[in-house]
Amino acid sequence: MTASTAEAAIALRGLRHSFAGEPPVPVLRDMTLEVPTGAFASIVGPSGCGKSTLLRILAGLVTPDGGEMQVRGSAAFMPQRDLLLPWRRAEDNAILGAVLGGVPDGEARARAQALFATFGLAGFEQAWPGQLSGGMRQRLALLRTFLTPRETLLLDEPFGALDAITRRQMQEWLQSVWLEDRRTVLLVTHDVDEALLLSDRVFIMSTRPGTIVESLDVSLARPRGTRDTTTPAFTVLKAQLLDALERGSAA
Ligand SMILES: Nc1ncnc2c1ncn2[C@@H]1O[C@H](COP(=O)(O)OP(=O)(O)OP(=O)(O)O)[C@@H](O)[C@H]1O
Ligand SMILES: [Mg+2]
Repeated sequence: MTASTAEAAIALRGLRHSFAGEPPVPVLRDMTLEVPTGAFASIVGPSGCGKSTLLRILAGLVTPDGGEMQVRGSAAFMPQRDLLLPWRRAEDNAILGAVLGGVPDGEARARAQALFATFGLAGFEQAWPGQLSGGMRQRLALLRTFLTPRETLLLDEPFGALDAITRRQMQEWLQSVWLEDRRTVLLVTHDVDEALLLSDRVFIMSTRPGTIVESLDVSLARPRGTRDTTTPAFTVLKAQLLDALERGSAA
């Protein structure tokens, strides 16, 4: 094991997985990647290439067929669907992961209350999930994930169903929350600008069976905002990313 692997929050080497069937469905092949501790990393790739499967493997919900996998500590997972419990009020949803992770109820509640404003949910502590907009539900699911006492956050398309403006606001807001939190994040997204805005490193996957086509380091200064998406440096990275996506789709 190299020194850099020892410091990685997530390290995969030759990971592979198939789902049972006649014939079996190969989903991931020869996945090798490394996410440094404290880094923000993203995965982009075509629909169905195995991104959610990878996060489920990293979260310990699916056992891979083979290869090596290291995850430092344990991970909090925000699945592609928000999975809020409709019969629990916003605050009770927010503390769920914390309480299941061993944080005493009162302490979890105090931490949630302190963060409701940061997550744009002030005043909605006692609302039912059904009374929240799509964006608010996603922020609540993110808040729950952030409050879960884990070293790594796995976020599966957290802004999937939002309009462009709300999405951009959420991205800038996630960046500011992360800049204070500094936990390792692995985010799945289809949005190329989102990946480049938020990440230190972007992994580009091929079509199924998915593998890493390219690993792109993004060393642009933070915080990054909408205006950065038109700079020459950003444009060059975006062209590289799109090119890798195209290569992965042609494979
Ligand atoms: N539990 C399962 N059993 C069998 N096949 C599955 C299972 N989960 C996923 N698959 C298959 O694995 C492949 C990858 O699915 P996955 O959800 O990981 O893709 P994805 O990259 O997250 O796609 P999207 O971008 O649309 O969310 C698909 O062909 C899917 O049908
Ligand atoms: Mg998915």
